[in-house]
Amino acid sequence: MSEVKNKLWGGAFSKSMNETAWRFGQSIYSDLNLLQEEIDVSIAHTRMLGKCGLLSNEEAITLITALEKISPAILEQPELISQSEDLHGAIETMLFESVGELAGKLHAGRSRNDQIATASKLWLKRKYFSIAQEIRRFQKVLIELAEKHLHDPMPGYTHQQPAQPVTLGFHLLTYFWMLERDWKRIEASLKIVDDCPLGAAALAGTSLPIERNQTSLELGFSRPMPNASDAVSDRDFVSDALHIFATIMQHLSRISQEIVVFSTNEFGYLKLDDAFSTGSSIMPQKRNPDFAELIRGRSARVIGHWTAQMSMMKALPLGYNRDFQEDKPPLFDSASTVQDSLVLVSGMLSTATFNTERMKENASKGDSTVTAIAEALVLQGIPFRKAHERVGLWVQNDHSGDPELDKLLETVGTLEACIENRNSIGATGKTSLANQLNLAKQIITKEIS
Ligand code: ARG
Repeated sequence: MSEVKNKLWGGAFSKSMNETAWRFGQSIYSDLNLLQEEIDVSIAHTRMLGKCGLLSNEEAITLITALEKISPAILEQPELISQSEDLHGAIETMLFESVGELAGKLHAGRSRNDQIATASKLWLKRKYFSIAQEIRRFQKVLIELAEKHLHDPMPGYTHQQPAQPVTLGFHLLTYFWMLERDWKRIEASLKIVDDCPLGAAALAGTSLPIERNQTSLELGFSRPMPNASDAVSDRDFVSDALHIFATIMQHLSRISQEIVVFSTNEFGYLKLDDAFSTGSSIMPQKRNPDFAELIRGRSARVIGHWTAQMSMMKALPLGYNRDFQEDKPPLFDSASTVQDSLVLVSGMLSTATFNTERMKENASKGDSTVTAIAEALVLQGIPFRKAHERVGLWVQNDHSGDPELDKLLETVGTLEACIENRNSIGATGKTSLANQLNLAKQIITKEIS
């Protein structure tokens, strides 16, 4: 067991740790995701200690210069950190090697408990920004596609049965609004993750004259967390993030399911580009939508990460608990899965070929235009229930025995009229759709404030 392994708390210990216990507790490789944030947190803390007179100016500058070199050094030589339990320890060890005893001054007025919470929050804030941007990119693709196919008819389904004709543009805009809610959830969450735990120390604050407002400001938070115990006990921000990521994956999974179904021979609505398809090792004719299936499958893991987090947290007492360490691998995994999946679904749809002829052919099948006929009767003053029954009977009799309805089928009941005449807010008609598209275009220009 190397000496490094006990560096952070060597004083009261005379034996090294059991090997399995050591391996079980080590989080260094997962922690590497937080490398930049850890360094940023330490630099902000150092600068603050300097301002507060707990470090001389010169000491602060020496420490900051050394801290700035650590991240490139680790990236270049990852084996440097293989003997460390976690990233906090690794950085401190490297700092000792670089500046000697001065390194020991850095840990005044903080503990690993507030450090890890701060680095995690900082990481999440940054990740939220990049995922929100990825959502915007995907929404832009959806708007472009919707505009291109704004008036191309396709069947609208309920219970997976033909219900009422819609347009492909209208259908694609449905995805836009799903994603818009995800974007808003991120925006809302960013406001909640916006207070800084640093300086809470172990759980009770510190007797040293530190200035938490300064570190909070420097790290881009709005304020320090008001209660030091809450600051180290809180992992709501991880639960919130995992819920948001699970919801995004659930959305992408539903879109993927449509991609899978719509690209079957039976539907034949779309063909995926070669770049997003796979073949079979035995059947030369095969063209499989593997990436849509993988997103559908992997969404299960991300949903699982959220439930794991909720279960992990539910009975934990206040204060730091080592259980918290379990929040990070799922957080990193969920975020990168979400990011890749957004890129993939966006790529699959933007390069797919849509068979608009086939969609149109199916759009009016299954008597899916007859609600429009019942509505035309309502305009004549007939109660909707009565109209519904009359049209239903006529459908059941294979369109016979009611000449007035035969006529209406030729006017309001055609595929075109049926789509066109729906102009209530959010409907498929030209005016409505134009409004919806405009709204989507305005929204897309909004960035996280
Ligand atoms: N690896 C730990 C975590 O992720 C870092 C904090 C450790 N703090 C402690 N007191 N053991 O939560």
